Amino acid sequence: MAGRIPDNVLEDVLSRVNIVELIAGYIPLKRAGRNFRANCPFHHEKTPSFMVSPDRQIYHCFGCGAGGNAFNFLIQYERLEFREAVQMLAKKVGVELPCDTAQDNHTASLSAAVHKVNELAASYFHGNLSLPAAQPARDYLLRRGLKDNTIKLFKIGFALNAWDSLINFLRQKGVNLSFIEKSGLALAKDSGGYYDRFRNRIIFPIFDARERPVAFGGRVLDESMPKYMNSPETACYIKGKHLYGLHLSKEAIRQNNLAVVVEGYLDFILPFQEGFQNIVASLGTALTYDQIRLLKRYAENVVMVYDPDEAGQAATLRSLDMFIEEGVNVKVAAIPKGLDPDTFVRKEGVGAFRQIIDSASKLFDYKLKVLSSRYNIADAEGKAKICSEMLPTINRFTDAVLKSEYLKKLAEALKIKEEALFEELKKLKSDPGNYGFAVKNDLPVFKAHPAEKLLMRLMLEESELIARIRESIGPDDFQNKNISKVVSVMFELSQQGKQLEVSSLVNYLQDETVSQFICESAFEPELSSQDKEKIIEDCVKRLKNEKMRSQRLKLHEQIKAAQHCGDEDKMNCLMHEFNDLIKKEVRQ
Ligand code: CTP
Ligand code: MN
Repeated sequence: MAGRIPDNVLEDVLSRVNIVELIAGYIPLKRAGRNFRANCPFHHEKTPSFMVSPDRQIYHCFGCGAGGNAFNFLIQYERLEFREAVQMLAKKVGVELPCDTAQDNHTASLSAAVHKVNELAASYFHGNLSLPAAQPARDYLLRRGLKDNTIKLFKIGFALNAWDSLINFLRQKGVNLSFIEKSGLALAKDSGGYYDRFRNRIIFPIFDARERPVAFGGRVLDESMPKYMNSPETACYIKGKHLYGLHLSKEAIRQNNLAVVVEGYLDFILPFQEGFQNIVASLGTALTYDQIRLLKRYAENVVMVYDPDEAGQAATLRSLDMFIEEGVNVKVAAIPKGLDPDTFVRKEGVGAFRQIIDSASKLFDYKLKVLSSRYNIADAEGKAKICSEMLPTINRFTDAVLKSEYLKKLAEALKIKEEALFEELKKLKSDPGNYGFAVKNDLPVFKAHPAEKLLMRLMLEESELIARIRESIGPDDFQNKNISKVVSVMFELSQQGKQLEVSSLVNYLQDETVSQFICESAFEPELSSQDKEKIIEDCVKRLKNEKMRSQRLKLHEQIKAAQHCGDEDKMNCLMHEFNDLIKKEVRQ
């Protein structure tokens, strides 16, 4: 769908960018030998393991595995699409992109096309609000305390009570039916044809941080169910990646170094309208690491406004642990029972809301309070239960001082010896089943035969070796499909006589996992002083043997299966193959 930007243009852009300067524009870099080092912007850490290589023009984090070239950095840091990252850098270095002028629905990426359709739909819904048929919707919004300016600012709209009004509007604008469905705005009927997803609902567009509409939420005007209906995931909307309202609140969040997290659309809108603007809404779902990292870009402190019911409590507790893991300083504010931020602000005013936020409890105190209401803090069983739930949380603090402070506090609260807690904490650490969930593992697991990795590293290190290795082995001989992919691209490029840089290889691969993998390998120490020809020979032999071994195992399975079914012919045929293979293996 996306009109691919020609490789030579990508190369041109990359060759004019200095990745060190680019990244230094976002985070402070320190020199470390030939490379530069920093605290990784993509995960929380106290000792820097994020490396940038000026020689190879790539970055890699040894902590979380993130890595790539200048484009990847922008994609990850600025949350851009590949094309957008290229456009941004091209502009910076003064390269004109051939497709910039001819960018229409066909050449733009799928997600940009969905943005466009959403843009149309959002303004259509918003326009509907002034129709006579929208009187009940206007009344509803008024009843909920929304001012006209707020409705405009949030581009709130109305979906008419009809089956195809949006569809007809979008078709007039030249959007085809199946694309309307792809954008999540229409649903296919069993009998053929399509109908509007949102009907007779107030529409809240959801924008990303760059102010593009990515999805919609629709609320009924009465008490009917479901109360809210939402866009499905589409090319530009992945649940748990966005936060409602961030496009309007990010500056206030940055200025206050604090983000208040609420649940619903109106829980965001009402306080915001009244001047409390450092706020975001999670939209009812449990927070994800992605959302937390998104918030972390703007503030180090978070206050969660929790719903005092059981489900809300459980969700809050889960989120708290995630915040700690990400190194965010998190507190919890309690809204009086039966109210939510929206109703509270309308009833008590924004000043009272501010007070509630200011007097938020520390995570530790909040969790202890919740647990003390669940279990009896005075008896032994109760204490053990509370401990078993508090310790994994305390354990998540990477800061040793904080950890020991909290252990002390917990011991005091439970009136037990600190040593007992230390004992329990030790158990927790040695029990991977228990602690496993706390060890966040974003690193893609790369299981590959060492010989495969070694050959790949050699080729990354010294492109002259590619042709030599290509003589004796094919990409299919590599069983790890990521490595096989890298190798086949390297072979292809070397055949075309192209010079091979790690940073451009990343472009050709267009695969995040594989790119991270090769950037990681590129930061490994060089194999220079050793006898490379010998290494190559050994590795090639190992891989060929491995391949035959796995073919043999596969044949063995097939023979067993044929035997099981009594398929004589097939068995004979397979046995024949098996013998040939063994002969070959012996000859090697
Ligand atoms: N939500 C949803 N689908 C539902 C219910 C809730 O997507 N069926 C999301 C909405 O984003 C909603 C949030 O979860 O704003 C919080 O849900 P809830 O507290 O039930 O709704 P309120 O925000 O209080 O809704 P309102 O004030 O409009 O009644
Ligand atoms: Mn509400």
